[in-house]
Amino acid sequence: MKITIFGTGYVGLVTGACLADVGHDVLCMDVDENKIGKLKNGHIPIYEPGLDSIVKHNVEAGRLNFTTDTEQAVGHGALQFIAVGTPPDEDGSADLQYVTAVARSIGQYMTDYKVIVDKSTVPVGTGDKVYAAARAELDRRGLELEFDVVSNPEFLKEGAAINDFMKPDRIVIGTDSERAQDLLREVYYPFNRSHDRMIYMDIRSAELTKYAANAMLATKISFMNEIANISERLGADIEAVRRGIGSDPRIGYHFIYPGCGYGGSCFPKDVTALTRTARDCDYEARLLNAVDEVNAAQKHVLFDKVSHYFQGNVEGKVVALWGLAFKPNTDDMREASARMLMEDLWKAGAKVQAFDPEAMEETQRIYGDQEGLQLCGTKEQALKGADVLVICTEWKEFRSPDFASIAAALKEPVIFDGRNLYEPEMLERYGMIYYAIGRGRNQFTAV
Ligand SMILES: NC(=O)c1ccc[n+]([C@@H]2O[C@H](COP(=O)([O-])OP(=O)(O)OC[C@H]3O[C@@H](n4cnc5c(N)ncnc54)[C@H](O)[C@@H]3O)[C@@H](O)[C@H]2O)c1
Repeated sequence: MKITIFGTGYVGLVTGACLADVGHDVLCMDVDENKIGKLKNGHIPIYEPGLDSIVKHNVEAGRLNFTTDTEQAVGHGALQFIAVGTPPDEDGSADLQYVTAVARSIGQYMTDYKVIVDKSTVPVGTGDKVYAAARAELDRRGLELEFDVVSNPEFLKEGAAINDFMKPDRIVIGTDSERAQDLLREVYYPFNRSHDRMIYMDIRSAELTKYAANAMLATKISFMNEIANISERLGADIEAVRRGIGSDPRIGYHFIYPGCGYGGSCFPKDVTALTRTARDCDYEARLLNAVDEVNAAQKHVLFDKVSHYFQGNVEGKVVALWGLAFKPNTDDMREASARMLMEDLWKAGAKVQAFDPEAMEETQRIYGDQEGLQLCGTKEQALKGADVLVICTEWKEFRSPDFASIAAALKEPVIFDGRNLYEPEMLERYGMIYYAIGRGRNQFTAV
């Protein structure tokens, strides 16, 4: 099938590449000329495991192409996927300017029936706005062309995006048009071979499903972080508690890891956007407000622990920092906990020697020549001359480091671990002082 994808970010590029990989003829369009230039020259602008080979393979096969030409993009696909950003607006609501701009472009150039498929995460009611924006352009052109709008929210996880797209838990299709539904069934047919993963519903429910999923996941994290904070004040070990509650099948082991807060381009903005949507219809989402509040506070917990260790004076201290991306297997630093930590440290007069396996370029782009930041080529270099080590991202290569050489390289043999990667007893054997999240009374944060 002929498919157009607007937006070649984490979602758009993965969607385009995977749809091409199952045989569709895909044209990806982006307004960012630099990005499209790179893609045309075989460079992948983001780090996502496995994406480069799948893009290369499908470009070579002629099934995946890139353009900045809107008219060509609209002309190409019977299905027009919108996968542009929906960043938070000043008041926390989702900024829909990019989504509606694409809808207008489609109305401006379409010459036959189209299905506009919204993959961006958008508030309930956006389907109507997309329809109205495209219809207004058609009216302006004096055309009566038919089209449908579908909500098809994306649930892929950065770092595992290809696998998530290729083997989705579910494919949600929100529409009341049978014609559109049939086309979407055909698009996704190759992803349903082992069993049917399609879930059909109305468009508003589909839009809300995406927010509900992310809000639920964020709630699990903030819940565990809250219990971790209580745990360390009581001298309990959150890791034992985690295993204890996870064994209950009604709770389960998935996604109940305590840590230094959730980040990324989705959870923070989607939780606030949903509270905002609720407020707009006269409902105060108290639970979701609390989820956000707990998370915002959790992003300062590592700094509090470091500051407590140095008795409130970190000025001039050098902190080795392992992990800058908001989670492993991505270079995405949007809302990353490491950013909050670094900013807290700089404000207090400390220096940071940072290393991340993939997010160094992104850190350089965001913080440039920030005083007090030294970017290091390896995790070992980051330790040299540092006072203590802090870990913000659970990259595999941090899971089993050489503790003896960490202790030797640091001025003080102290690790602050925002992801609970190690066993406290093991670090004790290496003569290290270990502060993690919610693990016993010595973890108590300054109040
Ligand atoms: N990143 C994720 O893990 C993830 C997962 C599920 C859903 N989502 C949602 O998917 C959407 C996209 O997220 P992302 O992370 O891929 O964003 P992104 O910022 O990585 O990419 C968005 C792209 O859209 C392009 N763009 C903006 N206006 C355009 C226009 N008029 N025409 C064509 N391209 C345009 C931008 O240049 C950019 O390349 C968001 O709504 C997000 O909430 C993201």
